[in-house]
Amino acid sequence: MSPASGTNLASNKNLHARRLFDPIASRYDLLLEALTFFQNSHWRRFLISRLHLEPHHRVLDLCTGTAGVAMAMARMHRCSVVGVDLSEGMLSRGLQRVRAKGLEHRISLVLGNAETLSFSDGQFDAAAFTYLLRYVDDPQATISEIARVVKPGGRVSSLDFFVPPNPAIRSLWNFYTRWALPLATRPVSPGWRYVGRFLGPNISSFYHRCTLEDLLAAWRGAGMVDVQARTLTFGGAVVIWGTKAP
Ligand SMILES: C[S@@+](CC[C@H](N)C(=O)[O-])C[C@H]1O[C@@H](n2cnc3c(N)ncnc32)[C@H](O)[C@@H]1O
Repeated sequence: MSPASGTNLASNKNLHARRLFDPIASRYDLLLEALTFFQNSHWRRFLISRLHLEPHHRVLDLCTGTAGVAMAMARMHRCSVVGVDLSEGMLSRGLQRVRAKGLEHRISLVLGNAETLSFSDGQFDAAAFTYLLRYVDDPQATISEIARVVKPGGRVSSLDFFVPPNPAIRSLWNFYTRWALPLATRPVSPGWRYVGRFLGPNISSFYHRCTLEDLLAAWRGAGMVDVQARTLTFGGAVVIWGTKAP
């Protein structure tokens, strides 16, 4: 893991994200799968499928965390991946996992901030970002920054949780995120207890401020074309993808 020069972790949201993720890194992968009812790996495969990756591609994986998306890309498509995250705890765990799978020749992990990337324009053939925009001050500026480092014609995709649009499913989702998730995470650790209480209200308030239509407009405003979105698992997650204008 190497620190990117000029990494700026100064905003309150950056510090909050780091404090949220540093303490939960060791059990993150197991609990992410269990708490999403094993849907996360299905969402991840769909996210990666939108990128049309080739073995010669150099791909940016933002919010790489414990490198789950980066490892899936490298294994499935034999491409090279640069993973960026601002949590040292998540990246250290990611590095262990990359080494355990013998993927260090394909994946490099860098400490950095997705809002101010230390890469020059058009360096990557494709980029993915997962669960990012709820942790930044300015989603539009962040999407523009990600588009900047992708080559014209390169593809970008994103994955995040979503609030189910169907009212009946949304009631179940509200019950799960406001009652079951806090109860299920309470015995795990203080860090997980905090995550369990924080996540549901954080997802709801994000989509209250920023609708899916706003996000699609932000992608187009960042110079992306053919922008599309698909909700998955009854609207519990959303994948957005597009192509940087040639
Ligand atoms: C829910 S985890 C996702 C990890 C991984 N991509 C996955 O799908 O399992 C979100 C990650 O985003 C990182 N993060 C939050 N804000 C960020 C920012 N501004 N720049 C880079 N990483 C950020 C956190 O440190 C955390 O590791």
